[in-house]
Amino acid sequence: MINIAVFASGSGSNFEAVVRAERNGNIDGNVKLLVTDNANAFVIERAAPYNIPVYSFNPKLFDSKEAFERKILNKLEEYGIELIVLAGYMRLIGPTLLSHYEGRILNIHPSLLPAFPGLDAVGQAHDAKVKVTGVTVHFVDHGMDTGPIITQEAVKIDERDSKEEVQRRIQRIEHSLYPATIQFVIEKLKRSGG
Ligand code: GRF
Repeated sequence: MINIAVFASGSGSNFEAVVRAERNGNIDGNVKLLVTDNANAFVIERAAPYNIPVYSFNPKLFDSKEAFERKILNKLEEYGIELIVLAGYMRLIGPTLLSHYEGRILNIHPSLLPAFPGLDAVGQAHDAKVKVTGVTVHFVDHGMDTGPIITQEAVKIDERDSKEEVQRRIQRIEHSLYPATIQFVIEKLKRSGG
C-alpha cells in the first residue's frame, strides 16, 4: 500500500473526497497525514473523524521556504510518505520537496489547463465567458499549474450560470476525478516498481 500525504490550506472538500475513496477501497493506498499551512483551515476538522494526523505549520515562523519544506520533509519521512496530493494547498512547491518527490506530487486545478492558471480559475473562466471549462489533475513541477497533465474533465457553462453554479459543478467533478486519478497514478507507480 502506498502511503499518501494530502496538503491543503482551506475547506478540504477534496481532502475528504480522497479519504472517503481510500476508506471505501477505491484508492489502493493509505492517507497517513494531512499537512496544512493554515491552523484555522476547516480541513483540520474534516481530518478528525477519520483519525488522520495533522502537521500544521506557520510559514511566517520560518526564515525561508526551504526551512519549512525541510521540516515537512522530516514529517513525510517519519510517516513513510510516497505520494503527495495537493488539494487546495495555496503555495508553490519548492526544490526541497520537488527533488525528493519528483513524479510523486499531484495537484488538482479547477480549469482546463493551460487555460486559467493561478487564483480564482472559476472566476477567470466565468468572466471570460467561455462555453467550456473543467478540471485538470497534473503532476507538479516548479511552476504555477504547469506540470504534465494526467487527466481532465470538461464542464459546460451556460451564459445564465452564476459563478457559484459553475463552482458547484466543478467541485462535484473534482470529487470523483481526483480519487480516480490518484488510483490511476498508484497503479502506474506499482507497475514501474513502486
Ligand atoms: C479546488 O477547487 C481545487 O481545484 C483547487 O483548490 C480548491 C480546493 O477546494 N486547487 P477544497 O478545499 O478541496 O474544497
